[in-house]
Amino acid sequence: MYTFEIIVGTTLGSAEYAADHLAEKLIDQGFQVNIHLDPKLESLPIDSKHAWIVCTATHGAGDYPDNIAPFALQLQQSSPDLNLIKYSVIALGSKSYDQFCHAGHMIDLQLAKLNAKKVAETFEICSVETQIPEDAIDGWYPQWVNNWL
Ligand SMILES: Cc1cc2nc3c(=O)[nH]c(=O)nc-3n(C[C@H](O)[C@H](O)[C@H](O)COP(=O)(O)O)c2cc1C
Repeated sequence: MYTFEIIVGTTLGSAEYAADHLAEKLIDQGFQVNIHLDPKLESLPIDSKHAWIVCTATHGAGDYPDNIAPFALQLQQSSPDLNLIKYSVIALGSKSYDQFCHAGHMIDLQLAKLNAKKVAETFEICSVETQIPEDAIDGWYPQWVNNWL
């Protein structure tokens, strides 16, 4: 059974609420979960028993939130081989901005470039269409979790 490492990128807290909610659901189903609010490469296991779930908002003009930006830079600078890692991305954003969910899409590209294997399409949550991200997680979760059973 996988242990999920949930890597959060947030400024105003919504992505953290979404990540906490996802963690509760996974724990209820018997998985182990670690949440990373200050993600660092050295704190993330790189082996086939750990899956990485990035749950990140977009801020500025298509930018990473401040708490996850150093991690994205670390990935870029140290280029670890993530061949053993399976990952999914939950991208929070707003369609009122030009670069909708851009941070989620950028980290997805970074992970794929480092040979990590993507599991399921990136799940986009628009804060205009869905006021409570936890509700979106509830709808998405049942089918997504099948990928990990
Ligand atoms: C100053 C600011 C800039 C934002 N820029 C973008 C953006 O470029 N693209 C996007 O999709 N969403 C953008 N958003 C929307 C946020 O990503 C969205 O509201 C998200 O749910 C916030 O998550 P958080 O509470 O975890 O920070 C922006 C929001 C703010 C307040």
